[in-house]
Amino acid sequence: MDSPTPVLGPLLHEGKAKRLYATADARLCAVEFKDTATAANGRHQVYVPGKGRLNCRISSQLFTLLEQGGLPTHFQGLLGDGWMLVRSLRMIPLEVVLRNRAAGSLLRQLPTVAGQPLAPPLLDFYFKDDALGDPFLSEARLAVLNIVTPEERMRLETMARQVNSTLHQALGRIDLDLVDLKLEFGRDHTGQLLLADELSPDNCRLWDQQQHPDSPERILDKDRFRQGLGGLVDAYRTVNQRLQALDLKPRHSDSRVKS
Ligand code: ADP
Ligand code: TMP
Repeated sequence: MDSPTPVLGPLLHEGKAKRLYATADARLCAVEFKDTATAANGRHQVYVPGKGRLNCRISSQLFTLLEQGGLPTHFQGLLGDGWMLVRSLRMIPLEVVLRNRAAGSLLRQLPTVAGQPLAPPLLDFYFKDDALGDPFLSEARLAVLNIVTPEERMRLETMARQVNSTLHQALGRIDLDLVDLKLEFGRDHTGQLLLADELSPDNCRLWDQQQHPDSPERILDKDRFRQGLGGLVDAYRTVNQRLQALDLKPRHSDSRVKS
């Protein structure tokens, strides 16, 4: 049976994949994962029933894994199915992308071969700005933007590498190869940097190590949609089912978050 929808305050933000709502506690907000898939910066959008719940479940488990490893995240607990409670943060408009293997845009930008290992993992910053198309940032361009101090940039890099290596190792245990991922961070009221947003196959590439490396069936992430392969929800369901073996048990929050 479906869990009840939490009681919420006003809608704070509607993005391409999630809605954020205020709660009675100004330090917390509720996130609803939407049943939509978008590509090409939102220009291509379809309704995908079941995707929101799966992304919420997958994200909750991966945030729990990171918290258990001592990495601070915004995750506060699951609300109803498809909903989570998070710390309300001032988001840093950066996308931190880590790549353990070459794939996606890197293949168009550097002479690399799909699947080529990148050791140490490649870390790049992009400016999170839909109107500008989320451009790549060099270190000098990041300095021009002046949105993080040099110390914060180093802290972001350290945290992002720890997140990547923790997830890469854990997912490897369930035969999922973490090819790359995109992370977002925010600051809490004390200025502490926390990992935010979501950790799902919408924001990373996962290849099934139980499939032949040349088979399209190895793709268990949003590339199925980007490449028109179909089977997006089945792929996300496989990821969620595999994660059960890690026995992560995300905590549940009181679903009666009143406005
Ligand atoms: P987008 O806005 O890029 O289309 P989403 O649909 O995923 O993306 O919307 C979620 C929005 O919420 C993003 O802008 C993200 O930066 C922001 N966000 C994620 N976590 C938090 C948080 N803990 N506090 C405040 N904002 C957050
Ligand atoms: P890319 O190869 O297209 O640059 O993507 C690298 C990783 O970042 C991949 O896992 C998908 C993820 N990503 C997002 O989550 N949001 C985005 O807007 C983009 C461009 C990539």
